[in-house]
Amino acid sequence: MTAAVRHLYIHLPFCSSRCGYCDFVTVVGRRGEHDRYVDALLAELELERDSLAPRLETIFLGGGTPTFTKPAALRRALRGLPLADEVTVEANPETVTPELARLLMEEGVTRMSLGAQSFQPRLLSVLERHAGPNDVRRAFYHLRDAGFDNISLDLIYGIPGQRPSDLETDIDEALALGPEHLSCYELEAKPGTRFTHAHGEELDRQAEALEDYFERVVDRLTAAGYRWYETANFCRTGEAAGARDLRSRHNVAYWLGRDYVGLGIGAVSTVAGRRRRNTPRLAAYLETLEAGTMPPREIEDLAADTRLREKVMLGLRLDEPFQLEEADGVVDRTALGRLEDLGLLIWRAGEDGEEDLVLTHRGRLLGGGVTAELLV
Ligand SMILES: C[S@@+](CC[C@H](N)C(=O)[O-])C[C@H]1O[C@@H](n2cnc3c(N)ncnc32)[C@H](O)[C@@H]1O
Ligand code: SF4
Repeated sequence: MTAAVRHLYIHLPFCSSRCGYCDFVTVVGRRGEHDRYVDALLAELELERDSLAPRLETIFLGGGTPTFTKPAALRRALRGLPLADEVTVEANPETVTPELARLLMEEGVTRMSLGAQSFQPRLLSVLERHAGPNDVRRAFYHLRDAGFDNISLDLIYGIPGQRPSDLETDIDEALALGPEHLSCYELEAKPGTRFTHAHGEELDRQAEALEDYFERVVDRLTAAGYRWYETANFCRTGEAAGARDLRSRHNVAYWLGRDYVGLGIGAVSTVAGRRRRNTPRLAAYLETLEAGTMPPREIEDLAADTRLREKVMLGLRLDEPFQLEEADGVVDRTALGRLEDLGLLIWRAGEDGEEDLVLTHRGRLLGGGVTAELLV
């Protein structure tokens, strides 16, 4: 008998249009299918019910653009979900009206993640975003007015044509809103996207500058009192947080290697050492669930050492010590000493013989490169 899973991801794939840089599983428009999709999601939830705890720790509704889903369908989806301590919904600014913000609050959403990306019209248009800077601010205040006291903003840096001063302005604008949480991602050139085709060479040229951008993001946000708790994630802390832990509990569970169930097209689940990925095809997903059966999925049994390696790679993204005994056999102890001498990590042994490690500030800026050195 496996332990009941306490983390649930729900994929709501619909978007009003497709941004050139995005390779998430998305479906443009299709308003006629939103109700059918929510029915299928709820049917999939019923089929998964036995693997879930009766009360969950976290639910994350991601996309796509969950807030582009027709409001009545979104309300039904939220009503059909199990109770959870943290319920996050991703939103695109142009979709957030006062009515929608109230609907989300009424239906038990506790945390909003708003995709700002930038506050500069020129850069937003390079990203092919529909929302302008005023839409971002307006959406933020609609959410505040509806009572949301835990709002995260997503920013992207490394946008072609972005200068260091543009990044500074984006950070200033984001901080001026006073969000509880910020996610700052380096723009990734996803293979096969329109964007990579159009801007790939420029992105390659600016790769070195991006290290400096990352450092600027970390310096500015930590100086403003945010905790750099994960490579790309920051939250308010101390008095400004009102004694709350404002990390994304859902994503922390993922970085700690906890089991989670994912529902919807393209959604991934990891339960008891097995990873499943639902079909990304909308028609196949709807048809199988309407017939009362599980959607088509790829299934991968994760080897023990693969799981341990993932645990190290994800765990070292966090600012809290990683217990070395959790990674027995996959960490190269000679490399540990070498990286410690280089000032990239701290390796500590307690009196009880337990050992832990944590990356230093510099080690975290280098991130994946340090972790790759560590793994055998
Ligand atoms: C899948 S999106 C969904 C949220 C929402 N639809 C939006 O666009 O704001 C979640 C976040 O992933 C980030 N993202 C998407 N594609 C990216 C890329 N190619 N490189 C870096 N970040 C990306 C964006 O910051 C975005 O807010
Ligand atoms: S970035 Fe967001 S809005 Fe744009 S296509 Fe991807 S999921 Fe949709």
